[in-house]
Amino acid sequence: MKNPYRPIRAEVKEAVTETPTIKTIRFRPDEEIGFKTGQFIELTIPGVGEAPFTPSSRPSVREEMEVTVMRVGKVTEEIHKLQKGDIIGVRGPLGKGYPIESFKDKEILVVGGGCGFAPLRSLMYEFFDKSGQFRKLFFRGGCKTPGELLYREEIEGWAKRDDLDLDLTVDKADSQWKGNIGVVTNILDSVDMNYADGIAVVCGPPIAMKFATKKLLEMGFKDENIYLSMEKNMSCGIGKCGHCRIGTYYACQDGPVFTYAQIKDFPGIWD
Ligand SMILES: Cc1cc2nc3c(=O)[nH]c(=O)nc-3n(C[C@H](O)[C@H](O)[C@H](O)COP(=O)(O)OP(=O)(O)OC[C@H]3O[C@@H](n4cnc5c(N)ncnc54)[C@H](O)[C@@H]3O)c2cc1C
Ligand code: FES
Repeated sequence: MKNPYRPIRAEVKEAVTETPTIKTIRFRPDEEIGFKTGQFIELTIPGVGEAPFTPSSRPSVREEMEVTVMRVGKVTEEIHKLQKGDIIGVRGPLGKGYPIESFKDKEILVVGGGCGFAPLRSLMYEFFDKSGQFRKLFFRGGCKTPGELLYREEIEGWAKRDDLDLDLTVDKADSQWKGNIGVVTNILDSVDMNYADGIAVVCGPPIAMKFATKKLLEMGFKDENIYLSMEKNMSCGIGKCGHCRIGTYYACQDGPVFTYAQIKDFPGIWD
């Protein structure tokens, strides 16, 4: 049986600076690992340690993968030093992704805050690859400043698509910013869909997810139709150590994607 703790060797192909604190690393594992959008991987820096990341790349591309990483501590600091040709390790894919099949023929609202755009990029690629299978697609994203807006050029390209209604906002504008100013919950009212039957996908820092969920419930979305990506502290990633517990669930195995209905009664879900 394959050892779930043994990372697969992977070679870094490119390291792109997105913002002063965020980089996207593209790598090619020795064995194809593939992933369902919303699943995560454990990325190992040899001699330093490993950390969980949700791939930000296209799930249909199986030979290579990208992760978009914010520099916050020991492992991510080393990830930011990676260059083409460096060797890393990858375990996964781990956890459960978004149940895309059950989104068919539905109206879907995707809400992203801050670095939450990274996993959502992979989800949006999946929607674009399956364009026509969903009734209507909305993206609402919020960031602190225009400078922190991830994948800005690419997202400006998405805004031209016929199959997507997209709007963005920043907390603090600069002189070039022509869009909305304020938090992401302020631009949810412009979403013209049947909320009671719609799907909402939310990803971002816990505080952004908390207020976005509150707003979506006020709008009429059902608990079971709000999907949240819960990035709890993880260690083993395979349901053995208990670090990632949310009530009766292990986020690494039962999540990291949960519906609000699954977890709403557990204490501390937004901590
Ligand atoms: C399922 C999952 C998917 C993730 N996907 C991404 C992703 O796509 N991109 C990305 O940049 N990050 C992602 N993260 C967060 C990432 O795993 C952490 O930032 C990373 O583990 C930090 O490791 P470190 O050694 O650099 O920091 P450490 O030295 O361990 O910690 C430095 C600081 O960061 C804080 N920190 C550590 N882990 C987290 C965390 N999970 N969330 C918030 N703060 C944390 C610590 O409390 C500490 O203050 C994800 C986490 C999970 C669980
Ligand atoms: S990370 Fe070990 S049980 Fe989830």
